[in-house]
Amino acid sequence: MSVTSVSQRIGGGVRRRIVEDFEKGAGRHDDLEIYGGPAGDPGLIGPDSISWEINADLASVSQAGLPAIVLEILHPSVVAGVQDLSNYREDPFQRARATLGYVLTTTFGNTEAATRVIERVKRVHSFVNGTRPDGVPYRALDPELIAWVHTCIPWMILRTFEHTNRPLSRDEQDRYLAEQAVIGRMGGADWVPTSAAELDDYVEAMRPKLSVNAQTREFIDFLMASPFFPDLPGPVDRQLHRFTIYAGMSRAPSWARELIGYDRPSALTRRLIGPALRQDARQLRWAFGTPRYAQLARERAAGVRPKVAAR
Ligand code: HEM
Repeated sequence: MSVTSVSQRIGGGVRRRIVEDFEKGAGRHDDLEIYGGPAGDPGLIGPDSISWEINADLASVSQAGLPAIVLEILHPSVVAGVQDLSNYREDPFQRARATLGYVLTTTFGNTEAATRVIERVKRVHSFVNGTRPDGVPYRALDPELIAWVHTCIPWMILRTFEHTNRPLSRDEQDRYLAEQAVIGRMGGADWVPTSAAELDDYVEAMRPKLSVNAQTREFIDFLMASPFFPDLPGPVDRQLHRFTIYAGMSRAPSWARELIGYDRPSALTRRLIGPALRQDARQLRWAFGTPRYAQLARERAAGVRPKVAAR
């Protein structure tokens, strides 16, 4: 066996391991029924969109998950809904997995699958109603709440993509937000930002409504307490865990980090965050190449019969 083929084999094994580890937490997103489908179907957004470039970067989409969720739950009505009705304590990764599936299906899925997931999630949300500890009633389908939760996702993906992939022009950012807004409106929002300027104004307008209360603290404490790296000894897991939260939150604006009290990383953590996130992104891109969901969607839109990938 030649040296090249040995190193190819080792490389293949490492790749598979990285993919398997990732999918254990984040799920597989390669369902033919969702990403394949009628030949020529562009889905809700389409192959010429910038969303198909940005959301094909699984590293950016996955790294954006943590700051997006934390920003979402800074709204007291959102955290109330999550605390009252979510099963995140039983399966901490489930919500992240479901949201990742939602983002990928709505961007790359065939029109029917994308519409179906939006309608299904709306049905789930129709049961998410209650009263906050401060006596204010909430309902998940309130268009204002949907707009906030929707916006946190493309906002954080944009910031992460720019940090770990390439800078985006103002026009590219505007296009991305306008494309993703279609999904936000279908999800039940009346209005969502469709340009970078609108995003900045919207976030500023939302800031007075965001806060950290006992429910937010409970959610964040849970996030800190659940083991991220269960194979590692407790103290190492806790250090890495803390680092992961600091790193994820480095994508969020400083006022959000201050609100949750993750604004004072040690000098060493500060120095390591950028390189660690870029390395994580490089590693995921190397292991996945073009992710299956994006390949399948491109083949579908081009009217090519999908090749079944060997794993
Ligand atoms: C566009 C905005 C939103 C998106 C994309 C979204 C996404 C999702 C997804 C994908 C699920 C999983 C559904 C399933 O089980 O198949 C879900 C469930 C849920 N969502 Fe949302 N959501 C949004 C807004 C909200 C808001 C505003 C609230 C609270 C006020 C909320 C609270 C919940 C709760 C409590 C669940 C139940 C399942 C769980 O988390 O364990 N969501 N959401």
